[in-house]
Amino acid sequence: MKKMGKNLNKNKNMLLFFAIFFFRTIVSIVTAEPVEDKQILINFIQSIPHNRAINWDMGSSACANWTGITCSPDGSRITALRLPAFSLHGPIPPNTLSQLSDLQILSLRSNGLTGPFPSDFSNLRNLTALYLQSNGFYGPLPLSFANWNNLSILDLSNNGFNGSIPISISNLSHLTALNLANNSFSGEIPNLNIPSLQALDLSNNNLTGPVPQPLERFPSSAFAGNDLSPFSSMPPVLSPTSQPSKKKSTKLGEPAILGIAIGGCALVFVLLALIMILRYSKDEKEVSERPQKEEKVTKLRSGSQNVNGNGSLVFFEGSSLAFDLEDLFRASAEVLGKGTFGTTYKAALEDTSIVVVKRLKEVAAAKKDFELQMELVGNIRHENVVTLRAYYYSKDEKLMVYDYFDQGSVSSVLHAKRDENRTPLDWNSRLQIAIGAARGIAYIHAQSGGKLVHGNIKASNIFLNTQRYGCISDVGLAAVMTPLTPPVMRIGGYRAPEVGDTRKVYQASDVYSFGVVLLELLTGKSPSHATGGEEVVHLVRWVHSVVREEWTAEVFDVELLRYPNIEEEMVEMLQIGMQCVARSPEQRPKMAEVVKLVEDIRRTTNTGASEVSTPTTEVTASPVVAQQIGSSVVAM
Ligand SMILES: *[C@@H]1O[C@H](CO)[C@@H](O)[C@H](O)[C@H]1NC(C)=O
Ligand SMILES: *[C@@H]1O[C@H](CO)[C@@H](O)[C@H](O)[C@H]1NC(C)=O
Ligand SMILES: *[C@@H]1O[C@H](CO)[C@@H](O)[C@H](O)[C@H]1NC(C)=O
Ligand SMILES: *[C@@H]1O[C@H](CO)[C@@H](O)[C@H](O)[C@H]1NC(C)=O
Ligand SMILES: *[C@@H]1O[C@H](CO)[C@@H](O)[C@H](O)[C@H]1NC(C)=O
Ligand SMILES: *[C@@H]1O[C@H](CO)[C@@H](O)[C@H](O)[C@H]1NC(C)=O
Ligand SMILES: *[C@@H]1O[C@H](CO)[C@@H](O)[C@H](O)[C@H]1NC(C)=O
Repeated sequence: MKKMGKNLNKNKNMLLFFAIFFFRTIVSIVTAEPVEDKQILINFIQSIPHNRAINWDMGSSACANWTGITCSPDGSRITALRLPAFSLHGPIPPNTLSQLSDLQILSLRSNGLTGPFPSDFSNLRNLTALYLQSNGFYGPLPLSFANWNNLSILDLSNNGFNGSIPISISNLSHLTALNLANNSFSGEIPNLNIPSLQALDLSNNNLTGPVPQPLERFPSSAFAGNDLSPFSSMPPVLSPTSQPSKKKSTKLGEPAILGIAIGGCALVFVLLALIMILRYSKDEKEVSERPQKEEKVTKLRSGSQNVNGNGSLVFFEGSSLAFDLEDLFRASAEVLGKGTFGTTYKAALEDTSIVVVKRLKEVAAAKKDFELQMELVGNIRHENVVTLRAYYYSKDEKLMVYDYFDQGSVSSVLHAKRDENRTPLDWNSRLQIAIGAARGIAYIHAQSGGKLVHGNIKASNIFLNTQRYGCISDVGLAAVMTPLTPPVMRIGGYRAPEVGDTRKVYQASDVYSFGVVLLELLTGKSPSHATGGEEVVHLVRWVHSVVREEWTAEVFDVELLRYPNIEEEMVEMLQIGMQCVARSPEQRPKMAEVVKLVEDIRRTTNTGASEVSTPTTEVTASPVVAQQIGSSVVAM
């Protein structure tokens, strides 16, 4: 009986647990939207002038889709609002943002906001970071900061604040960074005793008097551009060295002991010096080794510091990203690759979103043409085309901002170092990559009245989207770049034979490049690779030669041989690939046809129907035919 009772209890507990669980999930579904906070934001944005369109609309999910919004984990409140460089103008309407009482991060930096410090912000009791820098705020700061127990970062720099720095800032006991630079603060620096403070900038104000003792630990640059008197208390530099001489004089009566002492000291000194030399040389070694290890993580900030002046990021509609150039440059960036058109970085932004930033090397297009092309490319939305989110164009710097896919490019997954630890790219994945990429290219070719050309299709420009289908990146870049010189192109291995100038590309040359990608997926070989010595083997030529000699499985990637019953599908893909790399552009299928062919690979073999109607003969015939026709260029 006792045992049963225990079991019953256990069941009851289980039931209770599930009841609570379901209740919770239901509550969280019901309250998944911070309805009140949304209304507050709508009121705010409607009552403040702004030039950039914003996708805030009561009907859509604020937590999922609204620009610049972060919600609490249960979705009931808004916890962060970031609208940097959103061209907001004028004073912050009172009783709007201050009602977002759970707000922890508020960033309105680099806007055109004016007016006095929004005094009602004191209601934001949970605030941990407030970024209001680079606006037009003016007047004195509030006298009391008592409400902001949790504030850790306060950046009010580059505004027109004046008056004295309130001593009550000392009450911000969790403050780690305080930036009041480039304002008009006057009077003496208050005795801010905040042990947690790690960064301080009071430069370029109108402050006077001494630097208070608790702030002496900060570098002098933190106080530059003020009219300050020298440090209040000079550190006692001379006293320690003067003491031994005093001792010497009192102990003159015992020269022997002194001699031993000096000798001992000297010995200790020599030993110490030796140890230090040894340690130093070790440190030096470590230092010289370090850069190599950390080479991958950098900052995007380039040599030309003054990027703020000439232009800003241009965003495309539907982007829920909120960051500005400053964010990008501050983000920690990891080099993903160095390509023909420039270096690609993975950049982690302050709000935890991750984007891909491509720094273009040699843009030939003038600003106007560049903008036109980007406008065209930036409005393409397709699940198999990597979305261009924003771009930046200035004299010294051209940046492209794309969505980030964490699975990497087809090139990286296919050619990752082959060892035991590696899970090979299975056939199904390769098929999905081919299908996705084909759909993406076909969609691109349908744009701009059916005239848009990608111009640089290759495995490193195809990524795996969340469903692990191929997804095309770098659309339309070839058209704005300085043309590549022939040797570079040939080594590329993806370039159709009729392409001379990399800017004069055709849809048929995209089809050729896609064909090379198909062959790459099948063979697991790079489109051009050195085999001993200097010899560079052209993938297309190699496949041709193997296929011509004997219709064999020799071309297929050995890693694919472990999967059963895929030979037919591989042969079919090989045939499609060969059609695409036909030497003569007229002989290549259109991308829309290619999509159908690739999609049918699985379908035909699954139904078991013998629809292998793609002419096998054409495969071997095409190179010969092509040689006869020569390389006539078709304009499309
Ligand atoms: C978010 O926006 C996307 C399109 O940008 C849309 O497909 C999706 O339904 C939206 N989600 C919500 C929850 O509104
Ligand atoms: C702020 O501090 C209070 C206590 O001082 C604490 O209860 C609250 O959770 C904190 N809020 C945040 C967002 O850290
Ligand atoms: C915000 O602060 C209140 C107390 O002022 C606290 O009850 C609440 O949990 C805080 N919210 C968050 C998200 O920390
Ligand atoms: C601060 O600036 C305002 C104008 O913006 C001016 O009226 C006021 O006198 C200034 N206060 C101080 C202390 O300089
Ligand atoms: C804030 O600081 C002022 C001046 O240092 C002090 O008088 C006051 O008691 C502090 N308030 C709180 C809530 O700590
Ligand atoms: C203050 O202004 C100067 C000159 O415009 C600038 O170089 C400096 O970076 C600014 N300081 C801060 C903290 O923004
Ligand atoms: C700084 O203070 C001096 C006098 O103390 C005043 O003449 C000058 O105008 C002030 N400068 C600014 C930028 O407020």
